[in-house]
Amino acid sequence: MSDKATLEINGQKHEFPLITGTENEVAIDIKTLRGVTGGVTTIDPGYKNTGSCESAITFLNGEKGILRYRGYSIEDLAEKADFLEVAYLLIFGELPTQEQLDKFHSDIKKHSVVDDDVKKILDAFPKSAHPMGVLASLTSALTAFNPSSVNVESEEDMYNAIVRILGKFPVLVAWTMRKKQGLPLNYGSEDLGYVENILKMMFEKPNKEYQQSEILVNALDKLLILHADHEQNCSTSTVRIVGSSHAGLFASLSAGISALWGPLHGGANQAVLEMLEGIKEDGGDTKKYMGKAKDKEDPFRLMGFGHRVYKNFDPRARIIKKSADEVLGDLGVEDPILDIAKGLEKEALEDDYFVKRKLYPNVDFYSGIIYRAMGIPVEMFTVMFALGRLPGWIAQWREMRMRKEPIGRPRQVYIGENHRDFKTIENR
Ligand code: CMC
Repeated sequence: MSDKATLEINGQKHEFPLITGTENEVAIDIKTLRGVTGGVTTIDPGYKNTGSCESAITFLNGEKGILRYRGYSIEDLAEKADFLEVAYLLIFGELPTQEQLDKFHSDIKKHSVVDDDVKKILDAFPKSAHPMGVLASLTSALTAFNPSSVNVESEEDMYNAIVRILGKFPVLVAWTMRKKQGLPLNYGSEDLGYVENILKMMFEKPNKEYQQSEILVNALDKLLILHADHEQNCSTSTVRIVGSSHAGLFASLSAGISALWGPLHGGANQAVLEMLEGIKEDGGDTKKYMGKAKDKEDPFRLMGFGHRVYKNFDPRARIIKKSADEVLGDLGVEDPILDIAKGLEKEALEDDYFVKRKLYPNVDFYSGIIYRAMGIPVEMFTVMFALGRLPGWIAQWREMRMRKEPIGRPRQVYIGENHRDFKTIENR
């Protein structure tokens, strides 16, 4: 294969280098395009064909349904690793030794206290506020409580910011849920594992000793691993682009949380559960909703189906579907919406509309069913996604800073009015 691409504009040929990734993905390097063509740019709304960076963190092949973090398959990691190991792997590039993992965990624990004044901010939110809005605000507020800027030339400074947020974020997540439920704000315990501690903070009642459940720990561990990174998706690209202006880590993460909130992205897990509940209340007629999803006049979409990159099974959905059966079985929960979900999946996979468009269940299709069985309220589902995605966002931010990427600033093609003379108000 040639190592150059040729572009002809107005009879003039321009050559651009091709770059090939370690998994043989080929990209045309157009960094010099505007310079050599005298200002010609590219247009690609939604960035369907635009690579924004070179990255060594996550590989996914949407045609083959492959997902790997730092070279390790998602199937292996979900089965054999725990969330903190995966967080370390994503951020620093290698699986940790026991000693490295212990130090990482101990550094995180040192920073797991949140300034008490943050409670006053939380207090000011109405109970009806959506937890994602609250979480984005509190994450941003952490900047004010930890104002020292991160010197990106210093690995130590970046490490400190990373362990800080990994320590404080689960506290904010738990407090966001407790606020909504009217429960007192608490802290976890330094003696517990990272995920065990999250569950204790979320579920501990003021009048009862907290009992740890292995089933819940394993279920949450797996869900968090499956959500931990997904290369240049909407929220991750947001984190990288905000960070590229040299805004701090917490501010960049807060922007990522807002991006994740939307129903076409992480908000889909809440939307899926609400959709399944709606179908159940409407008599369980899945065919009716399949019809609505295919009707171009109807805005209804089958939530939890389709993906920008996967044109085959989302490997995370396969693992989560199996896990939903196991967790509900272990917890002794029977949930009729699991059957509705399986029915919808079966119909969609046999339906021409979905087959032709290569629409498969994505990560969000079954995750909400597990969260609900665990006792997590539906409005918290996207917050749980954010908790899982945190190490991925951090890893991508750190990579972007270490590679000294330039500020993100796309171009546009202007299609507005040409120059006009100003009209005074009485002449308009
Ligand atoms: N139900 C019905 N039709 C769909 C769906 C769906 N869920 N998803 C895509 N289509 C159709 C769409 O109408 C279009 O049809 P046509 O070619 O006739 O115009 C075609 O499939 C391609 O869709 P698109 O919107 O151009 O594809 P996209 O890559 O821009 O969007 C998506 C991807 C995930 C936003 C979209 O599939 C969707 O809205 N899915 C439902 C929301 C959802 O589950 N989101 C979670 C994504 S996974 C978690 C995450 O990483 O955030």
